[in-house]
Amino acid sequence: MPAPRLRGTLHLPADKSIAHRALLFTAMGHGTATVAMHRPGADVRSTIAAIAALGALTTQSTGDDGALVLTIAGGGRSDSAALPGSDPVTLDCGNSGTLMRLLTGAATTRAGRTTLTGDASLSTRPMERVAVPLRAMGAKVTTSDGHAPVVVDGGAHLTATAHSLPVASAQVLGAIALAAVTADGTTTITTPGPTRDHTERLLAFLGAPVTREDHATTLTGPTGWECRDITVPADPSAAAFWLVTGAIHPDADITLADVGLNPTRTGIIRILERMGARIDVTPAGTVGPEPAGTLRVRSGPRLTAVDLTADDVADVIDELPVLAVAMAAASGTSTVRDAAELRVKESDRIALTVAGLRALGVDAEELPDGWRITGAPVRATPSATRAVVATAADHRIAMAFTVANLAGVGTTDCDVDDLACADVSYPGFLDDLGALT
Ligand code: S3P
Repeated sequence: MPAPRLRGTLHLPADKSIAHRALLFTAMGHGTATVAMHRPGADVRSTIAAIAALGALTTQSTGDDGALVLTIAGGGRSDSAALPGSDPVTLDCGNSGTLMRLLTGAATTRAGRTTLTGDASLSTRPMERVAVPLRAMGAKVTTSDGHAPVVVDGGAHLTATAHSLPVASAQVLGAIALAAVTADGTTTITTPGPTRDHTERLLAFLGAPVTREDHATTLTGPTGWECRDITVPADPSAAAFWLVTGAIHPDADITLADVGLNPTRTGIIRILERMGARIDVTPAGTVGPEPAGTLRVRSGPRLTAVDLTADDVADVIDELPVLAVAMAAASGTSTVRDAAELRVKESDRIALTVAGLRALGVDAEELPDGWRITGAPVRATPSATRAVVATAADHRIAMAFTVANLAGVGTTDCDVDDLACADVSYPGFLDDLGALT
């Protein structure tokens, strides 16, 4: 049902991509440091549980600003990074592909056997894409028919290798970089397109010899780092739900505080602006190695259609379901192409996004690598009908269709069949929604 008016300032959960890395890289470093973050989602809590199971988590407390502060003792030396421990350990990665893939690389630095398991969704996702390049370096990694459980026998001698990845994946790149810290020499990882660069920024912040240029990351090993305190900014992928809502709603003024503004993550702002959205960005310096600032979105003229291809897709890969909601409200026909990766995320996000929009009465069509959507003006009044949108327990699908309902997209109101899954990346999503309405 459309909300009449949306107002308020939100302090969003910590960036999932940065939080996973801050926790793991600290657990691989030398010495002790803190990682501070607000409202970690279930995926990040899986990483916290994993480093606790490895014996790296010393204490958890609440900072003056309400942030969760984790004190971590790394398992590495200053010249050689390593996850702690040598006993066999099984780590449950829950729903998190990023955790499982990064850990596959990181576990090569541990002396013992590490077994990585995940939930039903994660257990269907492709893991050979990370095992293959690691094996090429000499790592002992097995998957179960290409999937979890993944077993890593750490401590093998690794060889610095040049990799050319078939998919532009920051997760796979990160896994290789973490293994490369113990290899003697320079490992190069070239991707077919841009990737989010949190691994490179954070490793460089910690002092590791890493560079990224022209879609190629190089890291020279063996290397280690001294742990440093890290604060994680708020998640631009969580901000995306409110940026889209504010841009299509007729009476919205929403402010989002301390959001990460890494240019490899702010494609959502650039694309919404291309569609005509009114978004003010106020940079506020850097949080550790990451830029951050305040975002404000206000209602404006109706958005116009946009066509997205490979160049745009990498920067908004996680935001495409909610961008589809913006497309469904825009004038004209929008397309997304070159986004076949969406089919192997937490769900088949192409199939579910299009099916959900169609359930709302939106003119939407599935393409092999994206979709075509013809928009219609949002409704200011509730409809007499109420559709149920299938989410396959995918957090981003659940939140995208919840904000579609809030903004009156399509010809019918809707409920999602599972909103509890929002907790994966955005604990307190419904509270924030309530605060705005
Ligand atoms: C992530 C990279 C992206 C993204 C995922 C988080 C990361 O996946 O979709 O949500 O933190 O490295 P790919 O690496 O598969 O592109």
